Amino acid sequence: MKVLVVGNGGREHALVWKLVQSPRRPQVFCAPGNAGIETLAACVPVNANDLAALKTFAQREGIELTVVGPEAPLALGIVDEFRRAKLKIFGPTKQAARLEASKIFSKAIMAQAHIRTARSQAFDKPADALAYLENHELPVVIKADGLAQGKGVLIALTREEARRAIVDSMEHAIFGEAGKQVLIEEFLEGEELTIMAFTDGRSVAPMLPAQDHKRVGDADTGLNTGGMGAYCPAPLGTPALRAQVTKEILQPIVDAMSRLGSPFQGVLYAGLMVVGGVPYVLEFNARLGDPETQVVLPLLKTDLLDVMEAVVEHRLDQLRVEWHDEHAVCVVMTSAGYPGPYQSGMRITGLDAPFEDAAVVFHAGTAKRNNDIVTAGGRVLGVTGRGGTLAEAQAVAYRTAERIAFTGCHYRRDIAHRALVTR
Ligand SMILES: Nc1ncnc2c1ncn2[C@@H]1O[C@H](COP(=O)(O)OP(=O)(O)O)[C@@H](O)[C@H]1O
Ligand SMILES: [Mg+2]
Repeated sequence: MKVLVVGNGGREHALVWKLVQSPRRPQVFCAPGNAGIETLAACVPVNANDLAALKTFAQREGIELTVVGPEAPLALGIVDEFRRAKLKIFGPTKQAARLEASKIFSKAIMAQAHIRTARSQAFDKPADALAYLENHELPVVIKADGLAQGKGVLIALTREEARRAIVDSMEHAIFGEAGKQVLIEEFLEGEELTIMAFTDGRSVAPMLPAQDHKRVGDADTGLNTGGMGAYCPAPLGTPALRAQVTKEILQPIVDAMSRLGSPFQGVLYAGLMVVGGVPYVLEFNARLGDPETQVVLPLLKTDLLDVMEAVVEHRLDQLRVEWHDEHAVCVVMTSAGYPGPYQSGMRITGLDAPFEDAAVVFHAGTAKRNNDIVTAGGRVLGVTGRGGTLAEAQAVAYRTAERIAFTGCHYRRDIAHRALVTR
């Protein structure tokens, strides 16, 4: 069976890594892939947003299942395009992907489905937003409506900061069209948790709960990033909480999308704030999280290919999705300067050392130069360790990371500490 994975980050490396382990021995392609993915799959030099070229490739190669990693091609309508061409594809349609691509749409559906989320108000006129802001308690959260590469949310501690965010987004259009409308949202204080789920538009199979680390520095200091590491399962996501999230959040949203005539198929990602034990939705994403995927997929026991096929063929209710009783920790290694400006092209050493069986190194931003592998992004590698306990998994990840080096390499030393220290 021929499978195509679309994307080029750590998430896609983890997807490819998991798919090639299928006993069904699929032949895996990746567009465009990276230097790590290349060792497992045939990389095709087609950009993830070039829908026409991806479709042509899938047709020519006889691809039987396409799996989409990132949000951009989903929001562009890759699933609609492939389906029109009678190609099987895992992911939501453009309409369904609005759950991620429009935070205002997402809030409206949550209201319809009576899902707990931070109170908010949507605005398309800056004057109205600024007027509403005047009586809002602080801190206040300002969110650009559309996709803004993780930069569209500001937690403002002062009204002045909030005003500037509104003007920058709505008038100066620093996020382009994505910020022409904004949400002004109540600030929730609690602990964040990610619960992703497979869904075929009717049934929901929740994955294990994960927690990522957004800030660049230890103890959650410094700038926000795409994610500096993650661990799974997060103890905060007890089986009871996971059941509650499935019943009160995931299933109702999936049902609401179906009622709307835009059934959601693929991976639904719920970004939650747990406030005094009660889960509130911060946002939905329409795909797997990065780096959460690098800790969740290694713990999946059921064949991922079987799960994805069941989703695409709308028979997820006939499959039991099972998980290993283990832990995983992923430490992200980044280029110096990230998330600000950084240099690429640094030679990476230590990658061909034989690692422990419980370790796996996912490439996020790498490229090949002659016989070397060099850095080619802000997030360069995701080093995942597995173990019988969280502490063991963490030790494997750090032992492995220590053997890898490149000029300016940075990583946090405290991934998973929150779970280890407080519980
Ligand atoms: N209402 C809120 N209260 C407190 N923190 C929030 C709230 N909304 C978002 N955040 C913080 O901002 C981060 C980014 O917001 P999110 O809605 O996930 O948007 P995106 O991931 O698209 O940037 C969250 O992970 C969370 O840390
Ligand atoms: Mg988010």
